[in-house]
Amino acid sequence: MNKEYYIITGANGSIGQAITEAIAAQGQPVIMACRNLVKSQPVQQQLIEKTGNTDITLLPLDLASFASIIHFAERLSQDSVVIQTLVNNAGVMNQYYSQTTDGFESTIGVNYIGTVLLTRMLLPLMHPGSRIVTTTSLTRYIGKIDETFFAGSPHHYKRFEAYSKSKLALTLYTARLAQELLPRGIWVNAADPGVVDTDMITMHSWVDPLANRFFRPFISTPQEGAVGAVFAATSPEAYGVTGEIFKKHKHTPIPTRLIHSPRAFWLYEETGKKITEVLAKLPVASPKI
Ligand SMILES: NC(=O)c1ccc[n+]([C@@H]2O[C@H](COP(=O)([O-])OP(=O)(O)OC[C@H]3O[C@@H](n4cnc5c(N)ncnc54)[C@H](OP(=O)(O)O)[C@@H]3O)[C@@H](O)[C@H]2O)c1
Repeated sequence: MNKEYYIITGANGSIGQAITEAIAAQGQPVIMACRNLVKSQPVQQQLIEKTGNTDITLLPLDLASFASIIHFAERLSQDSVVIQTLVNNAGVMNQYYSQTTDGFESTIGVNYIGTVLLTRMLLPLMHPGSRIVTTTSLTRYIGKIDETFFAGSPHHYKRFEAYSKSKLALTLYTARLAQELLPRGIWVNAADPGVVDTDMITMHSWVDPLANRFFRPFISTPQEGAVGAVFAATSPEAYGVTGEIFKKHKHTPIPTRLIHSPRAFWLYEETGKKITEVLAKLPVASPKI
């Protein structure tokens, strides 16, 4: 029987590392999909030593570049990799406006658009029983999606706004994808780590020293934040659960009022169109998504 891999994006980051360690400690073959190999190699080595699992592979993946995502997916396909679980963990909350290689505002481009493209490109390597787990955030509750979603502007960029939009969009996409993949028996869920003591919550302002002293000690560790994603990705109890949000060992369905909202429908359609438009302009054969 073929080996079945667990792929974790941003596996060198705080929560990503904790997810990777927990899955590798179960003896599973893991692929760390990371944008910076120099920074990630020592992490790979540490994880091999800590877990005793030598089947931890490190591959380059930059979610801010369609070419990198295509290259990653093609490489796995050429190597006939079979995917047990894709954990979409990588994410950013950029302080300043920037654009991805393909011209999207970077927070939305990496967290949402790159993640969607990666997921769709890896679907052919999945089978009934495969799982997709995507990291969402509490900020989805304040996220607002409107017709300006794909048109980020340097003049109006606010990091929380972009981040919360990207996480709401990921949650909505998860729900739609769960419905789409139900007939194939692929289980699609989101995981919410809560508020976790990582670099991501650094505000780069005067509040940081106060937060470090009075806030950080009371929030979750990366290991605690990883529990929901690991449970959704590996546990027998989560088998067959789809379209839900995991928080530690509990899971609740993504609300139907969100899934069936006109905005959710618009977003799903528009995402497909935007990705297809960019793919058509790339100087490589356009993959089917
Ligand atoms: N911390 C929290 O309180 C919290 C709460 C809710 C949800 N989350 C979510 O949890 C996930 C992990 O966050 P974290 O707190 O562990 O932050 P982190 O330590 O900053 O980790 C983020 C990871 O994403 C990777 N990444 C960033 N841009 C990328 C790109 N273009 N291509 C590929 N990988 C990229 C980073 O790689 P580099 O090392 O190369 O930058 C890093 O491995 C994120 O999706 C975040 O939104 C965090």
